[in-house]
Amino acid sequence: MLEEIDLRVQKLMRMVNQQTLRHLDGSSYRVATKSSYNDLVTTIDRQNEQAIDRQLREIDPGCRILSEEGFGDQQINDLAGHVWIVDPLDGTLNFVKQHNHFGIMLALYVDGYPTLAYIMDAVNQDLYHGGNGWGVFKNDQRLAGPINANLHDSLIAISSSLVLDDVANLAQVARQASGLRMYGSAAMEMIGVLNGELGAYVSHLKPWDLAAGRVLAEELGLTVKSIDDNGISVLSSNLVLVATKRAGQDILDRTD
Ligand code: IPD
Ligand code: CA
Ligand code: CA
Repeated sequence: MLEEIDLRVQKLMRMVNQQTLRHLDGSSYRVATKSSYNDLVTTIDRQNEQAIDRQLREIDPGCRILSEEGFGDQQINDLAGHVWIVDPLDGTLNFVKQHNHFGIMLALYVDGYPTLAYIMDAVNQDLYHGGNGWGVFKNDQRLAGPINANLHDSLIAISSSLVLDDVANLAQVARQASGLRMYGSAAMEMIGVLNGELGAYVSHLKPWDLAAGRVLAEELGLTVKSIDDNGISVLSSNLVLVATKRAGQDILDRTD
């Protein structure tokens, strides 16, 4: 059953991505702000989410859906049964301003267990997917997983606000890495860790920013941990690191 769901969701991801790429000219959608001037939502975020949620209900009848723009189930307070967590367009600011470096993310948790996940690198049309003990794939190619680089030898990504406000000593952590990168999309930064471009990604993430990356990173044996000692809860916001084991430990030793 999961195999069939998986194949259909891969197709869904590619279909929604094609629809998204049709709007790269920047003129065929409307933009609105959410919590602040740099927290954007477009009509494409909403269209994608409606298409994804509708299809998920056909593919996985009886599932519940937690999705960013509010078209999913209204109240999800537990992870019993099949729960899909949906970010219909991640890196919306990049989509609007750069027409590049954005993605789409979906994850399935079964009775709370991180089970299947999908992250689309939208512009390159590369789908990262896997979970359930099957491994992690970039399209049809199985990923070996990154080498276990330490902090000193790694490029790392930290979300800009955490560095600017020097939360948890992260400015000092950044100085001890090979270099600091900020892609502005959790999807693209998660992919960076999965394919070994980045040794770590640290950010304050909402459920739909974290859910898919966590499944794929754990499947590859990478570290996914809270850095504020609150533990990871998929249903709330987390200050979280996704990293190689060595870079992750180096960061945990240096954060407060
Ligand atoms: C945002 C991006 C950004 C991250 C924010 C997210 P959105 O997602 O992933 O990189 O720093 O925390 O909210 O709003 O574009 O889906
Ligand atoms: Ca997001
Ligand atoms: Ca989003």
